[in-house]
Amino acid sequence: MEDISKKTFDITRGAPPMETIPKDVIAGNGDEEVPGISDVIRENPLCLAYKGSNVAGHNFKGYGPLRETLAAQHKVKPEQIFVRNGGMDAMHFVLHYLRYAYPDIPISVATEVPTYDRFPRALNTFGFEWVGIPLTQDGLDMDELRSRVNKKYIDLFYRIYEGQNPSSYSYSDKEMQSQTEELAGLGAIIMDDGAYHNLTYGRKRNEITEFPDNYILQRNFTKEVSPGLKCGYLVIPENMVEDFDYIVRNLGLNPVYPVQAWYNAFINSTLYPGQIDYLRDIFGPRAMAVLDALNECSPEAEYNRNLDSGYFLDVNYPSIPERDTFVDALAERGIKVERVNDSYPPESLKRSKGAIRIPFATLKEDEIEEVCRRIAEVHSKIAV
Ligand SMILES: Cc1ncc(COP(=O)(O)O)c(C=O)c1O
Repeated sequence: MEDISKKTFDITRGAPPMETIPKDVIAGNGDEEVPGISDVIRENPLCLAYKGSNVAGHNFKGYGPLRETLAAQHKVKPEQIFVRNGGMDAMHFVLHYLRYAYPDIPISVATEVPTYDRFPRALNTFGFEWVGIPLTQDGLDMDELRSRVNKKYIDLFYRIYEGQNPSSYSYSDKEMQSQTEELAGLGAIIMDDGAYHNLTYGRKRNEITEFPDNYILQRNFTKEVSPGLKCGYLVIPENMVEDFDYIVRNLGLNPVYPVQAWYNAFINSTLYPGQIDYLRDIFGPRAMAVLDALNECSPEAEYNRNLDSGYFLDVNYPSIPERDTFVDALAERGIKVERVNDSYPPESLKRSKGAIRIPFATLKEDEIEEVCRRIAEVHSKIAV
């Protein structure tokens, strides 16, 4: 048996652990209800064709039958569905859309603080301004959002509505709806990121049933199924379809149709709800384990004590004087964390000096205890 007291933990990212990936089903060694990936190609070789050929109902926007399945699920038209290679890929198209739809003007995008660090990095490469809106366990600071939208035009608000990464906050249906309505009145778009849509433990998940004109939904199967077999999609409003068509036609790489065809078979089968139940059974106890371990080792730390969704927990140690010292000391104790935390905009970096994102879903219960114990030990040595 592995001695975890000697193990090094890299908790910089939240890569899905192998035990959660349905590899046998994907490879075709498992249930016949879903063909393996090579059977998909054998049964439908046209899914290897060029994106513009429109054969077998697929085109630049993705594999036709999958887009129809998703459109029926969300009760929208198939032309409103764009399937891409994962969530970040899909969201990049929204940033391209903003640049295309509003040429030559400065664009500003609001996010929760903290937020998913790769998104602000993408904003930066597009030259968009990043406006941070504080999110605490009491919810989003709506006064701040309102005042920022009024003072300066905010074009898009990026929201992670379920199991927010990294805070693990989940909005209520009511909060989501009133924010969307209010931003519509102010002329801004909301983009919801549903990376953790199904990953709720012991609580009801949010169901998205309304798709108003200022609303974009992104969902992906990276955490639910496989990060290697990348697939994510956008539901966009009808008034944006033409612009998105142009963008995806000119900037989109060939969508990987065999992968999309496999997902279409998988999500139409009983194996998909089975997979979600399986993940909840694994991650729910891990969420409890991180709460128990922190409660025991780090009572002074700040974190969501009602953790019941998502993959990550953001834990802040307020008495850490300097981030680099903390990061270095953790590395020496075999815990590798992000050096620069891009989840916080520069003006909030002070608050993030002692913040650590724990990807609890990726660690087994005994590993969670070990990681929390080591963090607390390091903290007690350098806290002031
Ligand atoms: C909030 C959020 N959005 C999207 C993604 C996934 O994006 P992708 O499918 O590109 O890996 C993640 C993964 O960590 C995430 O946490």
